[in-house]
Amino acid sequence: MSAFLIEGGAPLRGAVTIHGAKNSVLPMLAAAILGRGESVIHNCPALSDVAASIAILKHLGCRVRLEGDTLWVDASALTRSDVPDALMREMRSSVIFLGAILGRMREAEMSFPGGCELGPRPIDLHLSAIRRLGAQVEEKGGKLRCVAPALTGCDIILSLPSVGATENAMLAAVAAKGTTTITNAAREPEIVDLERFLLTMGAKIRGAGSSVITVEGGAPLHGGEHTVMGDRIVAATYLSAVASAGGEAELRGVDYRHLSTVTALFAEAGCAVRSESDRIFIRTQGRLKGVRPVRTAPYPGFPTDAQAPVMAALCRAEGTSVFVENIFESRYRHVDELCRMGADIRVEGRVAVVCGVEELHGAAVKATDLRGGAALVVAALGARGESVVTGLSHVDRGYQSMEEDLRSLGARIKRVRET
Ligand code: UD1
Repeated sequence: MSAFLIEGGAPLRGAVTIHGAKNSVLPMLAAAILGRGESVIHNCPALSDVAASIAILKHLGCRVRLEGDTLWVDASALTRSDVPDALMREMRSSVIFLGAILGRMREAEMSFPGGCELGPRPIDLHLSAIRRLGAQVEEKGGKLRCVAPALTGCDIILSLPSVGATENAMLAAVAAKGTTTITNAAREPEIVDLERFLLTMGAKIRGAGSSVITVEGGAPLHGGEHTVMGDRIVAATYLSAVASAGGEAELRGVDYRHLSTVTALFAEAGCAVRSESDRIFIRTQGRLKGVRPVRTAPYPGFPTDAQAPVMAALCRAEGTSVFVENIFESRYRHVDELCRMGADIRVEGRVAVVCGVEELHGAAVKATDLRGGAALVVAALGARGESVVTGLSHVDRGYQSMEEDLRSLGARIKRVRET
């Protein structure tokens, strides 16, 4: 087990390139099995969630090759249609393989994903979408078994714009004969990225980025080729890191339009923020100021994944900031750890009230989820003294060499083996 040792207080300066988006590449790896041939995915980040997806692809019978940040997936000959329990447990979002396996193999078997550190994470919308397309779904003893000798295009109306359910519906629909319309679809940029990849595979699909996605399914797909978009949540984390530690930095390789709610927040907090095409510049100007209430919402609203890192930056702001978490039930597990560093935060239900303090102090803290872990790093960079952040397996799910990126900006952070 490893830990980050962080000596806070060093301002960050310089430029860093943001790696490919975890939430784009995971559904793309699932999509790759729909093509009878080889797909090539560029800008593939080296994350433990990607490694888990590669293990699933290999289990299904794909040949996978990784060179640098380019991944080749040859899905010419699949031999299995199940996801083993251990891999389901390793990555809850393995459920994204459901629509694709079903589409390709006409059957799929996996364990029920169950809850996770963010609270209950039901998949009822995923299941009702694939049922509408003609699948029979059996849920027994924590196992899911789906069979669909035929999949037929249909109207799918999601009761809420779930990212994963939209992706699963898209992946099953491209394999279904006829037209499928997904209404109240999630509009996240990662869905647009998935559509782009599917188009290179020969799929007929349009509307991603809007609330209605239309798929003309049934045509055989071939391998595709695509470059994964930059990770907007990693970018939001590094903006938070600069805001917390002070300094100025340029983030490259990320579309600034995907981050407008986050950059607007830091501008309101008193930072100078400037954006152009695939770059964002941020400079702190004295102590941050508290901001108006931050309410997480589906895209284009404020991303729930950015809530924790941004909160960490605002712990030392002058004044009070209020957060309202509307997407997940228990997404404040980082709060107790931030309080160990001297933060003043009260949580009641979905609301967290952050009263800015003059100073945070270093402490031994533990990451309990991916973005919560990133938040502890953000806070430690701005704290006086040394912090030890453990629980890095969570952080490594979504950040490729976070310590190297931050060190290149001047942060005093290193990864050590825990004794
Ligand atoms: C994805 C992202 C995750 C992000 C989240 C919200 C990936 C791999 N993960 O997760 O980083 O935090 O979007 O932006 O892309 N829900 C149901 N029934 C369902 C499905 C979802 O009630 O069948 C609820 C969830 O409990 C949650 C809300 O819908 O409250 C949003 O979840 P969803 O958009 O599905 O998130 P994920 O796709 O799991």
